[in-house]
Amino acid sequence: MQLSKHLEGYDKDLVEVVLGIAEVTKAISRGFITHQGKADTSNLYGDQQAAMDVWADDLFIKELGGSGLVRYLASEEQPEILEFESDTDLAVSIDPLDGSSLLSVNLTVGTIVGIQRGGVLKPGSDMVGAMYVIYGPLTVLVYSVGDGVHEFVLHADGEFVLRKENFTIGSEKRLGQGAARNTYLPFHEEFISRLEADGYKIRFSGSFVADVHQILHKGGVFTYPGYLGSERGKLRLLFECAPMGYIVTQAGGAVSDGVVDLLSIVPESISERVPVYIGGKREIELIMGLPK
Ligand code: F6P
Ligand code: MN
Repeated sequence: MQLSKHLEGYDKDLVEVVLGIAEVTKAISRGFITHQGKADTSNLYGDQQAAMDVWADDLFIKELGGSGLVRYLASEEQPEILEFESDTDLAVSIDPLDGSSLLSVNLTVGTIVGIQRGGVLKPGSDMVGAMYVIYGPLTVLVYSVGDGVHEFVLHADGEFVLRKENFTIGSEKRLGQGAARNTYLPFHEEFISRLEADGYKIRFSGSFVADVHQILHKGGVFTYPGYLGSERGKLRLLFECAPMGYIVTQAGGAVSDGVVDLLSIVPESISERVPVYIGGKREIELIMGLPK
């Protein structure tokens, strides 16, 4: 079944946004060959931006801004929330190309999208939908509009075709862990020690979207914790953690900053960072229960 068919019956404006984003990701998936190389710019977080990041960001802004489909757009590559003329109140937050520092070694990167109504500075639990696309050996799109999690694969004819409907998080013991061990905070050290003692295998590529995708399918937990020198972690609440957390929660998993449900956190700014623990309920309950 094609993505457009699968989305039938949901709010028309929401469906059009999901399909519009899906169209851009097709162009991105074709563009890796033609847009190689680095641009000597950096975004407001100090990440080096590859030419591909900038190009992908531009495509999304043109598609979503020019379409009248969304009123607000926050992109990880832009310092301010963009506002467009639109009959809808849809608000999109987007990481156009997560993990892009790994493009130079040809590892999997992806696009992450959260969809809200009325504005982007809202808790993840208010989302009306979220999606991500993985550009790996295959281009895979995973979406939820609050009604389960579904996966599509891009076929040679340019269509996203259903691969897994209503799937739930796996049950294997896998662990993706960001930050350096000598900067771990004591409760995090305890968390990791307990998982290791329980036989968890390390699985970490350094591309958040791909790492969470693996955990979603196979099971376990991904964490990029707060650490010495950056107690609120590295990853962004709005562009990365909330949308992926919404999807994993929809698949029967959970997401936390270590203390509270991450989807309950109201962002104060688009650039807010957050420690993240995302995966199975068991693992998230373990970190939330450890004394801080
Ligand atoms: O977008 C940020 C990101 O590239 C994530 O995809 C990834 O989890 C993280 O940074 C890795 O950062 P570092 O290499 O600094 O640990
Ligand atoms: Mn990112």
